[in-house]
Amino acid sequence: MTTMLEVSDLSVDYGGGRVVNNVSFELGEGEIVAFLGPNGAGKTSALKAISGLVRADSGSVKINGVDISRMPAEKRSRLGIFLVPDDRGLFPPLPVHAHLALASHTRSTAECRALVEEHFAPLAGRWNLAAGSLSGGEAQMLSLAMAMMAKPKVLMIDELSFGLAPIVVRRLLNVIRDIADRTGVAVLMVEQLVDLALAVADRGIILRREIILTGKAADLAADQHRLHEAYFGASAAGRASNSGTTATTPASPATPPPISAAAEPGLPTPSEASE
Ligand SMILES: Nc1ncnc2c1ncn2[C@@H]1O[C@H](COP(=O)(O)OP(=O)(O)O)[C@@H](O)[C@H]1O
Ligand SMILES: [Mg+2]
Repeated sequence: MTTMLEVSDLSVDYGGGRVVNNVSFELGEGEIVAFLGPNGAGKTSALKAISGLVRADSGSVKINGVDISRMPAEKRSRLGIFLVPDDRGLFPPLPVHAHLALASHTRSTAECRALVEEHFAPLAGRWNLAAGSLSGGEAQMLSLAMAMMAKPKVLMIDELSFGLAPIVVRRLLNVIRDIADRTGVAVLMVEQLVDLALAVADRGIILRREIILTGKAADLAADQHRLHEAYFGASAAGRASNSGTTATTPASPATPPPISAAAEPGLPTPSEASE
């Protein structure tokens, strides 16, 4: 598998101490990595440092083997790294097609339309609508479509699920899986609905300032106790255990969020969902 993104010893310090400390990982072509952790864990800071929007305190970032650590954000994005921000980055009065046109300087309207129909079919019927009148799921789909217009090699997505119902999130995650499989884009996604994220991701990383735990998504999902402990810290998880994790960084949040609002058994799969 071709390595698309290589992050080595990345640290971020806004002036009050490191909020991201020595984070290293790789992303392969077509791979989806769930980037997980409680509020304040440093996820957004790490994504911004990778895309050049905040300055890294130390470390290096390579895309396709090219060191981009010293490049400004625009140059990094031209080399294929794209961040979908947690605020979705949409302008409410502007119609869907205008967002897509803005996002792709080089593609014709017909090309935009074809890309939307291929990967984001529900948006095709919303072509002339103002972004502000889209549902939350459609708006998030528009952000993803805009990102894909730039033909990214690495797509980073921050908090896809914010404000969305788990069923909608599940559908969007399936769209992302499909995009990764069909285009080879490497995806790093921050997601609060941990179980849903691990169900589509290839691997997971649990961050609390440092990488606390990493592994295959299926293995992480299969060991919920270890996952909770990594996510919340051993004390917050209730019991100490010797499961072999390196839970050494107590960057614990004031109020741990629920690890998954989607742990409800019996939630329909997207194909079963009629809504
Ligand atoms: N621009 C900033 N200036 C100073 N501190 C910041 C800034 N952005 C985030 N932080 C702090 O960095 C830490 C990590 O935040 P963040 O990266 O947003 O975490 P997450 O995305 O995992 O919730 C938090 O303590 C947050 O308050
Ligand atoms: Mg964040």
